[in-house]
Amino acid sequence: MKTLCFVNQKGGVGKTTSCLNIGAALQRQGRRVLLVDLDAQGSLTKSAGIRALDSEAVTVSEVLSGKGTAEEAIVRREDLPDILPGDIRLSGTEVELIGAAGRDFILKEALEPVAGDYDYVLIDCSPSLSVLTLMALTASDGIIIPVAAQYMPLDGIMQLMQTVEIVRRRMNPNLKISGVIVTLYDARRGLDKSVYEAIKEKFPDEIFTDIVRYNSKIAEAPTFGKDIFAYATGSIGAVAYRNIAAEIRRREEK
Ligand SMILES: Nc1ncnc2c1ncn2[C@@H]1O[C@H](COP(=O)(O)OP(=O)(O)OP(=O)(O)O)[C@@H](O)[C@H]1O
Ligand SMILES: [Mg+2]
Repeated sequence: MKTLCFVNQKGGVGKTTSCLNIGAALQRQGRRVLLVDLDAQGSLTKSAGIRALDSEAVTVSEVLSGKGTAEEAIVRREDLPDILPGDIRLSGTEVELIGAAGRDFILKEALEPVAGDYDYVLIDCSPSLSVLTLMALTASDGIIIPVAAQYMPLDGIMQLMQTVEIVRRRMNPNLKISGVIVTLYDARRGLDKSVYEAIKEKFPDEIFTDIVRYNSKIAEAPTFGKDIFAYATGSIGAVAYRNIAAEIRRREEK
């Protein structure tokens, strides 16, 4: 099992979109995939078509606070990635766990019983370097950083790299940068090209060959609870995410 987390403390850069669509692509390429929603906004859960989680449902919150197991919480689906759903109750869980012993390892331990069921576990993080994000970084083999081409992002990336360094020192020495995705790219804007060049210079080995362009199909799909392949399989967004998933397999499975 390879665990990859989608992290960038900047909001709206395509973390959830990339997590969902790369998960769907890997599933379609024959891999067993679990998606984990670690953001109290619950966007991944909703985008995956799970609208209402009733208060009785076991979610990732109960799993982290020891009131349920991953086995109980995972929603299993035919021909789609399984999902460990999350919602607004994650914000309460995060506060509750701030002082917990061995806090950063809670997610890693919670996922161990289902490790044999999956080839890939993909964790969607919130736009912050919070306690939950530290748990995700501790549980992961690699981090995937989506970067939106319309902001010059390098300050934020430096801060993220410092956090990765701390996690490596204290919790997870093997954590690597598994990939950098340039998202929301618009070739008509000059800034986007400069951002792409800057990212390529900083992460020559980690940047994916395919860029995810601005594509309205990508933005529409989640409102139907669908991934890009179910919604618009011939779109440029589908092509990009399919190729990025294949590149992840080449990198992780060699
Ligand atoms: N390539 C794309 N083309 C068009 N729209 C996109 C693309 N990628 C993402 N979007 C849209 O941009 C918005 C932000 O994307 P997304 O939710 O994936 O970002 P995020 O980094 O997860 O945000 P947050 O930090 O709030 O969790 C969403 O409305 C999404 O549908
Ligand atoms: Mg998100």
